[in-house]
Amino acid sequence: MKVYRANIIFTPSAERFEVLERGYVAVTDDGLVEGTYQQLPPHLQSASVTDYGDMLLIPGFADLHVHAPQYRNMGLAMDLELLPWLNTYTFPEEQKFADCAYAEKIYRRFVHELWMQGTMRSAIFATIHQEATLLLGRLLQEAGLGAYVGLVGMNRNCPDGLRNSSDEVVAGTERLMQELAASGREGYAPVQAILTPRFVPSCTEEMLDTYGRLAQQYHLPVQSHLSENVREIAWVKSLEPDAETYGHAYYRYGLFGQTPTLMAHCCYTDGAELELMKKQQVMVVHCPTSNCNLASGMAPVRTFLDNGVPVALGTDISGGNHLSVLRVIQYALQVSKLQYAATKGNKAFLTLSEAFYLATKSGGSFFGKVGSFEPGYAFDALVVDDSYLNFAGYSLLNRIERYVYLGDDRDIKHRFCNGKELAEPKM
Ligand code: GUN
Ligand code: FE
Repeated sequence: MKVYRANIIFTPSAERFEVLERGYVAVTDDGLVEGTYQQLPPHLQSASVTDYGDMLLIPGFADLHVHAPQYRNMGLAMDLELLPWLNTYTFPEEQKFADCAYAEKIYRRFVHELWMQGTMRSAIFATIHQEATLLLGRLLQEAGLGAYVGLVGMNRNCPDGLRNSSDEVVAGTERLMQELAASGREGYAPVQAILTPRFVPSCTEEMLDTYGRLAQQYHLPVQSHLSENVREIAWVKSLEPDAETYGHAYYRYGLFGQTPTLMAHCCYTDGAELELMKKQQVMVVHCPTSNCNLASGMAPVRTFLDNGVPVALGTDISGGNHLSVLRVIQYALQVSKLQYAATKGNKAFLTLSEAFYLATKSGGSFFGKVGSFEPGYAFDALVVDDSYLNFAGYSLLNRIERYVYLGDDRDIKHRFCNGKELAEPKM
């Protein structure tokens, strides 16, 4: 057993923060939280305590939608909306990942920055390229970061150099599953394969059908994009006129909650699509920085929460301009307020604890018991030195609010994933 002492802050529920001033968290040898305590209990009196003084101890962040091969474009090319943006900037960059040496350069920096930003768990889109995708998985394993990694499938409406077949998706996904299982490190958070049809416009019915069979055969989770942009939705309607909604186009192939499913964006989800997401417990990944940059829209997060549809947060680089989940928390709060204003106060905006919960316990739930410090949860944690933001008289709630709005990666002094402290990965 290991015991850490600090100012502990987490969100067992969305409604409020749980706060232990100079409290203790005990972690088992398996890397699971045994309990949090205000006073050291008798059974831990002889345990050795690592004391982080006045620093904050918060759960690690979960980024549930991020495109690793778009890392070099992050913060660039924000002058187009989704469909022309994909064709002009994104597809040409992703084609370069046929070259493993190029992929290694970009992916090493990407993984390093995930670590830097305190993103202990992520759901990642790679590209259609098997070798580069395997490499990304291995780099995540070396770093000790937990992740789902997807070999992307796309076989229509894409450049010839960025197209694969259903057979290649099957072979590549099976290889990814096997090789990641073989190279996984004992005791560290798992890095696993996730089915990743890019989105309906990129995948023929035949490819979606193949994905559905893979999902069922191996019980693999699924990630894709849904109802992000008005023109994209109209295009899907013309490509798949028989599907009742965009979401139904995934559902009929077994890719919408038949196994655990992440759908990024959902800016325009309502009606029958919303009902289906609720019934199927499909998780919305809200990406407000990306939705601002690509002028996509404002996802109805409050409506999802009111309907019991699970919601997580994603950076979606390079639609998103930053790999920091802290920034996404901030944007989720601010966009929810613009939406509140735009609907004349019809829907309540998000609270700080709600947005923090989405980035920790809610997103973490896709990985099992992750994102909280309740007993049995994997100990994913960040030790944060916010002393330069702190003033005498601030409460811990004031301090977490200041950290969300003003803090950054430089304030993170220690990172733990699955109970292991993670050293800085090599670039
Ligand atoms: N839809 C299909 N591909 C993409 C992508 O790479 N980024 C975003 N934001 N939306 C997409
Ligand atoms: Fe995306």
